[in-house]
Amino acid sequence: MALFPEGRRSLIAYAYNAGPAVAYQPAYRYIAADIGVEAGAWLDVGCGPGWLCIRAAAGHPELDVVGIDTSETMLALAEANKRGRLNVTLRKMDGAQIIYPAGTFNVVTSVQSAHHWTAPGPILAEIHRVLAPGGKFYLYEADPDGEIPPEWLHRRAAWPPDVVLRRRWRRDGMDQTRWDALRAEVASSPFGADVADERHGFYRRLVCTR
Ligand SMILES: C[S@@+](CC[C@H](N)C(=O)[O-])C[C@H]1O[C@@H](n2cnc3c(N)ncnc32)[C@H](O)[C@@H]1O
Repeated sequence: MALFPEGRRSLIAYAYNAGPAVAYQPAYRYIAADIGVEAGAWLDVGCGPGWLCIRAAAGHPELDVVGIDTSETMLALAEANKRGRLNVTLRKMDGAQIIYPAGTFNVVTSVQSAHHWTAPGPILAEIHRVLAPGGKFYLYEADPDGEIPPEWLHRRAAWPPDVVLRRRWRRDGMDQTRWDALRAEVASSPFGADVADERHGFYRRLVCTR
């Protein structure tokens, strides 16, 4: 693969892999353990460098984790990060066109991807379609007002400092207006309005049941 096949998007992917994806390692572990699925099939939409997939699959050979992303650079980084782990499959795919049959997955996650979705409706419909009845969809976004629990962060030599993280967190987080708009999209999707809206560490999350 060329070093920058997607130009600026590749650059952002490398920076994300070397920065936030390192700092948030304990958060990926926490989310994986908190969702706590140990067997079956798990789909992560917008998997980026793959860390939630990797943490979810670790120690659970009965679990098949699929990560999809539209960025080939992110997927190449995820492929390197997964270090041959057999129960993690990474595929280039848009959340709006998931090439899996209906009812394939027991759980679907999406972490800090929804703020990129220009049209959430088709993505939500696809996630609903590929979930098995009773399956759950967990959507996490940065909470700009959230406290950053120290145990959710990994720092090399005290870097990054809190002030850098908070600034980045506020920039990436969804303000209340965007969050309300996303909730309205979910309410008009096949999931309907019965959605849990929770604050979770430094994330806000929605939990939707199929
Ligand atoms: C900020 S990164 C988050 C990556 C990862 N979930 C994490 O928490 O480390 C957002 C990712 O969502 C992906 N993405 C955005 N829209 C997407 C879509 N429609 N389908 C699949 N992936 C998408 C982007 O390519 C990017 O890799």
